[in-house]
Amino acid sequence: MSAECYPLAKVGGLGDVVGSLPKYQQELGITALVVTPYYDRKFTRENDFEIVYESVVRMGDRYLPFQVLKETTNKLGFFLHTIRIPGLLDRSEIYSYPDETEQFIAFQLAFLEWLLTFTTKPDIIHCHDNHTGLVPYLLSHAYRYRFLSTIPSILTIHNGQYQGWFGWDKFDYLPATDPWTRGILDWGGAINPLAAAVKACWKFTTVSPSYLEELKINSKGLETLFIAEQRKGTGILNGIDTEVWNPGTDPLIPQNYNLDNVSKGKQENKRALCKEFGFTLSKPIVAFIGRLVDEKGADLLAAAIEQILDTSKGKVSILILGSGDPVIEEQLTVLKEKYKKDYAIFIGYDEALSHRIYAGADFLLMPSRVEPCGLNQLYALKYGTMPIVRSTGGLKDSVIDISEPEGYGICFEDLDTDNITESVNRAIELYSNTGGLRLLRKRMMLLDFSWNRSASQYIDLYNSLK
Ligand code: ADP
Ligand code: GLC
Repeated sequence: MSAECYPLAKVGGLGDVVGSLPKYQQELGITALVVTPYYDRKFTRENDFEIVYESVVRMGDRYLPFQVLKETTNKLGFFLHTIRIPGLLDRSEIYSYPDETEQFIAFQLAFLEWLLTFTTKPDIIHCHDNHTGLVPYLLSHAYRYRFLSTIPSILTIHNGQYQGWFGWDKFDYLPATDPWTRGILDWGGAINPLAAAVKACWKFTTVSPSYLEELKINSKGLETLFIAEQRKGTGILNGIDTEVWNPGTDPLIPQNYNLDNVSKGKQENKRALCKEFGFTLSKPIVAFIGRLVDEKGADLLAAAIEQILDTSKGKVSILILGSGDPVIEEQLTVLKEKYKKDYAIFIGYDEALSHRIYAGADFLLMPSRVEPCGLNQLYALKYGTMPIVRSTGGLKDSVIDISEPEGYGICFEDLDTDNITESVNRAIELYSNTGGLRLLRKRMMLLDFSWNRSASQYIDLYNSLK
């Protein structure tokens, strides 16, 4: 269960993971059924869905009709089911509505109503992030779902910063539960779905091993919970879908390439990117792709870019693709006036452009303050684009600095503008060593960060609970 699943709905990496891990699990012999909300989006409008169940769910004093719609062709490599609740959960955006709490509670309750009708119970219910965090609690403790209480639940935490909390005034939205278990819902005086899921699930995972450790030190108030529950936790590094993210076959890039023709292939993609953004082909392109929020270190980008472009004397081009905090968007947009030729920014979300950048840029900058896994660096590596990362969370677990014998990236420890600038300067220097960079590109492309590496770890976890 998840709020996102690519290609139906993606805001970030959660969508990528839920849209790819189940496909690889199916290949390993698991029947994977993905359940998401039915949003009014391109994918739902352009594909056929059939109604497989309809009913009404009670949420407090509201009775909400809902439908479960299944994508008919199963072309995604898993069985995609969506829950449509007219007027509440069939809108165009995924998050940020004022009634988001009601939307996701209703989603979870409708899912459980449907589950009650299954003739064969699932072996495992795998929940992702806070939007599905009430399910482990309700499965174990709601009277209405007592026949389901033996189904093991797993929670995967993609981002512990977002916890989905809401006030106890909305407690009546939930079905009746054992009174003694209500403390499970509570954290700091509010109902906290992420905390409740960590407490009630049978096992939880984080999307990298380092992030599991970091949550005990920095998790927006849940640190003591993660220390107390650590025995239930495992860190499993995300994989990538190499059918979608493969420079050899990617239909969204101007020139396909592989290990044998990486230099030429990247040069052609870079040429197209330079044309698109007015850059000079001979200079290295350092790109940033992502949500423009503090978590990603995006608040430091404007100052760092000024420092880099003022001191590097026209030796580098910088390209930003992202959207998010309006203050950061503004800081980054005004720089365009000052650095016309060596700086470009696209504010917005553009999946195809992201592919062109992974293929055409030389370096990908990720100065993350918090990074539970990070997929951008894994895509960059697959496309022979060197990541420049702050060593935290999944970045620490997936990128080795080029100063190490087996290294293939540029890493720094403390997050400040000087360190970002110094790391970009290391990249500029490396770029002048054409032979060295060519070898490193091959090394990057040979790495295997596909789900082939980690999908089986989830299956081992499932098997340990059956
Ligand atoms: P997060 O989930 O925290 O945003 P990840 O690194 O896990 O970070 O995943 C981000 C995903 O979203 C990647 O697939 C990345 O390419 C994509 N992405 C982020 N911002 C944009 C954007 N503005 N346009 C296109 N793709 C984007
Ligand atoms: C979250 C994290 C990101 C991770 C993604 C997929 O959005 O911020 O680091 O890669 O989930 O697990």
